[in-house]
Amino acid sequence: MRRTLIKGGRIVTAVDDYVGDLLLEDGRIEAIGRTLDADDAEVHDAAGLLVMPGGVDVHVHMETPMGDGVETCDSFETGTISAAFGGTTTIVDFAQQFRGESPKTALDRRLASAEAQCVIDFGFHSILTDVNPSALAELPDLVNNDGVSSIKLYMAYPDVLMVDDADIYRTMRKVGDHGGMVNLHAENGVVIQAMIEEALEAGNTSPKYHQLTRPQLMEGEATHRVIRIAELAEVPVYIVHLSAKEALDAVVEARDRGIPAFAETCPHYLFLDKSEYDRPGFDAAKFVMTPPLRDHDCQQALWRGLKFDDLQIVSTDHCPFCFNEKAHGLLKSKQLGKDDFSKIPNGAPGVEFRLPLLFDGGVREGRINLNRFVQLIATAPAKMFGLFPRKGTIAVGSDADIVLFDPQEKHILSADTHHSNVDYSLFEGREVTGRVKKVFSRGELIVDGEEWLGKTGRGRFQKRSASGRIL
Ligand code: URP
Ligand code: ZN
Repeated sequence: MRRTLIKGGRIVTAVDDYVGDLLLEDGRIEAIGRTLDADDAEVHDAAGLLVMPGGVDVHVHMETPMGDGVETCDSFETGTISAAFGGTTTIVDFAQQFRGESPKTALDRRLASAEAQCVIDFGFHSILTDVNPSALAELPDLVNNDGVSSIKLYMAYPDVLMVDDADIYRTMRKVGDHGGMVNLHAENGVVIQAMIEEALEAGNTSPKYHQLTRPQLMEGEATHRVIRIAELAEVPVYIVHLSAKEALDAVVEARDRGIPAFAETCPHYLFLDKSEYDRPGFDAAKFVMTPPLRDHDCQQALWRGLKFDDLQIVSTDHCPFCFNEKAHGLLKSKQLGKDDFSKIPNGAPGVEFRLPLLFDGGVREGRINLNRFVQLIATAPAKMFGLFPRKGTIAVGSDADIVLFDPQEKHILSADTHHSNVDYSLFEGREVTGRVKKVFSRGELIVDGEEWLGKTGRGRFQKRSASGRIL
């Protein structure tokens, strides 16, 4: 029996805030009390620290193939070590069906690699790129028995990932009755493709054209459209990486009418804006993620959405490609698009900085309170995606995924000190207050200050129950 006592910390959940002790036993939270004793326990003094549930990041892309040999530069191992140092103890990544492939085969392939490498617990969303009758027929079992209760579809990237509205409707109808939810990348892919062609024909090849060819209006249009399709199909719907105020307006409008429409945003949309694309030379390619960074006034709208629960979750969309070819080769780098913005691999890193950024810019700046912070980074994602109450809170019987967080410590976010394979940070040089000090995953201390104590492959696959049934 392994016992750990965390003493005298400020225990914060989505609803609680008090000073007390936690006893962890055999990977679970055994007891919570004002003062607890356990002779044989390893004791950790948490005086002055916040004791929070481990973060749950439901949007990451580790070792993800993007076609033609292009792949994100974090393995399941490096990506989850980076996540752990940032206070995240569970990720939900993706099992993408290749055209003609069975969704279950895609899941098995990703599971094999993740089980061998992940250092924290993990689950998968399924991605369908080929919505055919046999793929659809597998979905109820995937949702009910394989623990994959969310299916992601793309309204963007025609001829690569995009599916049409009829296939979105068919997928929704198929999973809705079984406790499944469809997650959407909501942008109007065909109009965007026409704009990209227009830009290239005019000789406009620099990274800033990534932003100029993916207008906010086309995110708003797709978000509105897909919520209406979900309304017709009578299933909950979840919009990933929402960035534009026009898209948020569509979510707010639907929620006001009682439609179960949910959405996440990401730290880069909260803290950065499209002015990053004015950087000289190719440097702007670091910010080529989809959707792109937006008008400055979107930030205020997103913060308001987080505060009033029109946005329920902050995830990272960690999708790392190195800036320089030298670090991990051309196929894992932004340099692929040196002469053509449309060839820059889409995606940016961030899995390690979610908690400190949101604490510093959210809680310390007075935009959200501490309970809401925990809700956004741990409790709501766990509830939304069928991991609660095993994950996402501090309660007797829950997994002992615990973060000790110093709310006063200042530190600098930098690629020089982060733990991802990626060679740059969107937030390079930013000073934040609030730092992850210790991380326990199922009761095991895996991060102790700068020290990594976890073992490769210790993470466990999490079968998830129903998604989107939180109203
Ligand atoms: O730019 C991004 N977000 N890349 C990852 C794939 C996606 O669109 O989510
Ligand atoms: Zn993504």
